[in-house]
Amino acid sequence: MTKKVYLKNIDKYEGEKVLIEGWIRNKRSSGKIQFLIIRDGTDEIQAVAFKPNLSDEIFDKCESLTLESSVRVYGIVKSEKRSPTGYEIELTDIDIIQISDEFPIQKKEHGITFLLDNRHLWLRSRKQIAMLKIRHTVYYAICDYLNDNGFYRFDSPILTPNACEGTTTLFEVPYFDEGYAYLSQSGQLYLEPGITALGKVYDFGPVFRAEKSKTRKHLTEFWMMDAEAAFVEHKENMKIQEELIRFVINSVLEKNKKELCTLERDIEKLKKADAPFKIITYKEMIDILQTKGSTIQYGDDLGAQEEEMLTDDSEVPIFVEKWPKETKAFYMKLDKDNPGLSLCADLIAPEKFGEIIGGSQREDDYNILKARIEKENYPLKDYQWYLDLRKYGSVPHSGFGVGLERLIGWMSGVKHIREAIPFPRMINRLSP
Ligand code: 4AD
Ligand code: MG
Repeated sequence: MTKKVYLKNIDKYEGEKVLIEGWIRNKRSSGKIQFLIIRDGTDEIQAVAFKPNLSDEIFDKCESLTLESSVRVYGIVKSEKRSPTGYEIELTDIDIIQISDEFPIQKKEHGITFLLDNRHLWLRSRKQIAMLKIRHTVYYAICDYLNDNGFYRFDSPILTPNACEGTTTLFEVPYFDEGYAYLSQSGQLYLEPGITALGKVYDFGPVFRAEKSKTRKHLTEFWMMDAEAAFVEHKENMKIQEELIRFVINSVLEKNKKELCTLERDIEKLKKADAPFKIITYKEMIDILQTKGSTIQYGDDLGAQEEEMLTDDSEVPIFVEKWPKETKAFYMKLDKDNPGLSLCADLIAPEKFGEIIGGSQREDDYNILKARIEKENYPLKDYQWYLDLRKYGSVPHSGFGVGLERLIGWMSGVKHIREAIPFPRMINRLSP
């Protein structure tokens, strides 16, 4: 029996006869020779079918292959300096599993609507594979950092009775006799009871926002990692975020050189972001933006354009801290030196990739929090459990939420986050 191998390990099999299972990425021939590029999910390799060494039947099979046909290729691993992997396969036999119909995605440029309609097929193109591999790295780098720093995974529910991030972007789902449930916008409120059991916790999963905005930074379903820690205050909260993001940058630089190259990512820019992050206050941000010519006023939220303007001369991400309380969520603790401000920070990535993290210290005083819930006109009964936490052993605590696709967008340098998730959901897209 020939040994079945994966292409990422091909260097271990030089001179040996191996079996590779995969798809035909590309094909070219010059009379007596067929060059087949095989992809197996882990990598690609060129297999060479040389007519004089093969039976007519085997050579004809190679000739009959169409792009994306699925195959089992048998052959000998040869070192080959000109190959990007350093190796190629001298084909000795081939089983055709399926001859592919004409593949709809060709080398020529396709419009984005066509590509998204064919997302199930587009996923196998080189850049998309590179992106999926970077997504894998970023996801596990976040988990590794948290696991190594004492955070326990604590899964929050997706069906919830209340809003976490305002009521304007809620998805409603009919829920038996209870009326409606809402798809979670962030697991944060549920992580807060988690810290009273485990100290430091995180969740990681899909969250949902009925975003009406059609921008390159908004999905209606995206992945968020929420982290929450007892006895951590605002400044330390930012420190954890910076460490986490720098850990992610280093993981991607270490594990995904090839993918970054496929995506034509400027690696130097990514390297430079691994340096101390800047911290400015909201007030300072307004001054900076006004100096740069923006019409933004104190009290305004940050638009996409201002986000980009803010970081256009910064190599590192910028924390914008202490926002006017009216601009931020009800659960944020107010600054004791200036109760008009929330003890929060948004982390804005460089290179126009926008806000990647929202975080804050949480209000831990029962009466203040109750008043803020009432001010929002939220039904108190739905938040009673959340308020309870401030009655039974309340502690200072903080947390933050990382938008996975925004972070991947930045790491990979891809401009629209619809490519940072296998099947994007946007206001005008629900399929495939
Ligand atoms: O800033 P947000 O709204 O913060 C929260 O939801 C907090 N409850 C998190 C927490 O403290 N645990 O969202 C967090 C991050 C944003 O910084 C952004 O990166 C991403 O989630 N995000 C989106 N990503 C893609 N599409 C959208 N529509 C997004 N909305 C937010
Ligand atoms: Mg935010």
